[in-house]
This record gives sequence, structure tokens and C-alpha cells, in this order.
Amino acid sequence: MAKPKIIFACQNCGYQSPRWLGKCPDCHQWNSLVEETTEVSKNTRVEVAGTRQDPSRLSEISTREEGRVLCGIGEFDRVLGGGLVRGSVILIGGDPGIGKSTLLLQAFAALSQKGLTSLYVTGEESQRQVKMRAERLGITSDNLLILSETSLERILDQIKKSKPDVLVIDSVQTVYSSNLPSAPGSIGQVRECSGMIITLAKRGNLSTFLIGHVTKDGAIAGPRTLEHMVDTVLYFEGDGGHNFRILRAVKNRFGSTNEIGVFEMKEAGLREVSNPSELFLSERPIHAPGSAVVCSMEGTRPILVELQALVSRSFLAVPRRTTIGVDHNRVALLVAVLEKKMGVRLYDKDIFVNVAGGVQVEEPAVDLAIIAAIVSSHEEKALDPKTVFFGEVGLAGEIRGIAQAEARVKEAGKLGFTRCIMPSSNLRQLNRFESPELRGASSLKDLWEMIF
Ligand code: TYD
Ligand code: MG
Repeated sequence: MAKPKIIFACQNCGYQSPRWLGKCPDCHQWNSLVEETTEVSKNTRVEVAGTRQDPSRLSEISTREEGRVLCGIGEFDRVLGGGLVRGSVILIGGDPGIGKSTLLLQAFAALSQKGLTSLYVTGEESQRQVKMRAERLGITSDNLLILSETSLERILDQIKKSKPDVLVIDSVQTVYSSNLPSAPGSIGQVRECSGMIITLAKRGNLSTFLIGHVTKDGAIAGPRTLEHMVDTVLYFEGDGGHNFRILRAVKNRFGSTNEIGVFEMKEAGLREVSNPSELFLSERPIHAPGSAVVCSMEGTRPILVELQALVSRSFLAVPRRTTIGVDHNRVALLVAVLEKKMGVRLYDKDIFVNVAGGVQVEEPAVDLAIIAAIVSSHEEKALDPKTVFFGEVGLAGEIRGIAQAEARVKEAGKLGFTRCIMPSSNLRQLNRFESPELRGASSLKDLWEMIF
């Protein structure tokens, strides 16, 4: 047996040091190093399916697509890259209470209805609690097995016994192995236990979902190495004040990382939202100054969101500039452009910019909508409620082209908008559209003529 060795491991990122340090040199977290005993064990390495093979010629390797299984929840399948790949390992992270367990229970119910034997291992709830949740969600299935267990050895035993096709481990942080000297829940345990589960999954062609907790900074708690060991990393996001949730792929060996899935948390579980624009625009005030609609791209998917601005007289020496959902520096820059190029007096005004619904919009295409909303609030004049804005604004007050203009225009048309104000350079590349009417602007002066 290998000699136990004492190391200090960062509980945030998994960095290891032979002595204690106050601050982790890798992730700069304070007071995160904890003493752990490790053994250099031989069975912790992740083995990819069929590693014990001789090399083959590239041309001779069969490319037969490993069958994908559609679970029937469209948004979920889309994020996975068009269904679940046999034998893939997927890590799902998210804040506590965001709905990870609910999502997977619903997905597993759907999968088990397709005849797949599904094993749901939970280390956080009792079987009864899972059953109660399932009743609330209206799930009944004979193929769905629930195991309430935290011991890795017993979990592995049960997997061998029940031979499931799909497996979920509800929170890798709760699984521990008594063969490892480090404490349950520590970084060492999480890494080694996940490693063993992944190895088993790859050997047995078992599709596995690992649920991971998220730290305060939003990264999956546990070693970063976990993200390298799995095929797909998904984050389930959303904020407590709103009902909608976004499932986002940040790594996917079997699909694009640009896709998002939108869900709404309802009384009876998660409901997929196949048209998110409608949801985000549902409470929009019509004819209220300071409200502009922008078409923003989330990966390959155009989403219409409402951008709100409030400009009011400031009584502070340094006026406030507060933004939620858009970049603070971008708004500061656009305010400066407005002052300098268009002579709008804003230096004695507080400015608040908010993206309704709690969405984050990070691309420069929102510039034009931010400008329109600010000016509309400043002038106390409402914008046309059937107009969508998109375009990047430069420091000289010019309006610059953006990517994927056609997809944005189509989405606006689909939702009944009648006019798009967009960069002229994009307009030139587009075919004619019946509706919406397309108006190209090349500078802020053009924009003024169109909105007032
Ligand atoms: P849960 O899936 O337990 O979150 P996680 O596993 O990510 O910690 O979701 C818990 C939250 O979801 C809880 O606050 C209640 C809410 N919820 C509903 O609103 N409707 C439902 O049908 C269910 C099952 C949960
Ligand atoms: Mg849970």
C-alpha cells in the first residue's frame, strides 16, 4: 500500500501545495487551503472507452455516430447538441435552488418513458422526498430507479447491479469513498470519486450527468480538473427574483457551445420556453419613454429584449450611472458620445439603464438601443413600440455593422415588429423584406431623424 502523504489543497480550485498558504497562488482565494491526506492510488485515472487498443489508421476508424437519444424536452436536447450521446459525461452546475434536480428529474422521466433504464442517485434527499417532488411534477415511471446513497462503493455496486442506460449523481460533492483518507466533501474526494464514476461510465457506455454545486464566484465548486474530465459542461442560471432559467453550454465535445435553452419555473416544474422573446417582452410598457427593444444574439439564437433607461436630474456632485444587464463602461462611453456629438446635456443627470427580465446582454449591438432609450427618457418622448434597434456605436457617433443582421430582422418580423433601425452597412447586404421595414442609419444624426 502506498504511503499516505500530507498535502494542502485549495478547496476552490484544487491547487495543491506541500505546505499551508494563506492565499492560493492559483485562484487567489484567501484561506482556502485545507490539509488533506492523499494516497497515490492507482485506480483514479480516467480511462476513455477502449483505451486498451492498438493505434488504428485514421481512415480505418468507423465514424458511425454513437446513437443520440432525444429526451423530448426540446430546449434540453438543443443545449446537448441535438440529443444525449451514448456514454457521454455531462457536468451541470448552478446555484442552490435554481432547479437542477427538478430539470434532471423531468429529463429522466422523459428518458425512462423512451424505455431507457434510468438511475437517479441522490445524496441530498431521501427517496420519499424525490417521490414527493415527482408527484408534484406529475411523473410516473417504472423504468426510473431512485437511489438515496452517498457512499461511492455502494453506488458503484448498484450501477453494476441495475445496469442503467442513463445515470445522474445529484451533487458530486456529497459522494465520498471510505477508501480515501480525505474528509467527505473535500476537493480530493470530489475529484477521485468523480474520476471513478466517469471511468465506469466510459467503460460501460453509460450516459452520466453529474450535478455540481457552484461557489460564490459562480464556478463549479470542486477542482477545475472536473471540467476537463467530462465531455460537456452546462450551467443552469437565473436569478431568484425571476422565474425563467437559462441552460447554457460552456463546453461540449458533441455540439456547439453557443446554444442556450430557456425554461420557466412553474408550480408544476420547469416548462420549456420555445419563444423566449415573447416572455421577455410580455410586460413591456407601451408608449412609455425610455423603453427600447433590441434584438440580441444568444449564440445562434436571436432574442428580443426590452432595454429601459431612466434619466433624471441629479443632486449629486458626481451623477450616478447605474446599469443592470449591460456593461457599465459601455454606457459611460455612449453617454460621452451623446454629450459630445449630439449635444445632449447629461452631465447633471443620473442615468439608470436596465435590461428587463434580468437578462444579460453583452454584445455591442445593443448600443443603438441604449442610446435610443436614454434619449427617449431624456426628452420624455416614447419610442415607436413596433420598432427594434440594433447596431454598434463608435466614438465618432458613427453606427457600425454587426453580425447576423438577417437572423435579427427575421425574429423581429416573427414577433410582429414593423420597423428595424439598423446599421446602413448591414442593410446593403440584406435582401428586401416585406415586413419589417428596414431603415439603415450610418450616424447618430440619421437615428435622430428616424425616432423623432
Ligand atoms: P431544485 O431542483 O431542488 O434546485 P437545485 O437542485 O438546483 O438545488 O429546485 C428547487 C426550487 O424550485 C425550489 O425553490 C422550488 C422550485 N420548484 C418550483 O417552483 N416548482 C416545482 O414544481 C418544483 C419541483 C420546484
Ligand atoms: Mg438539488
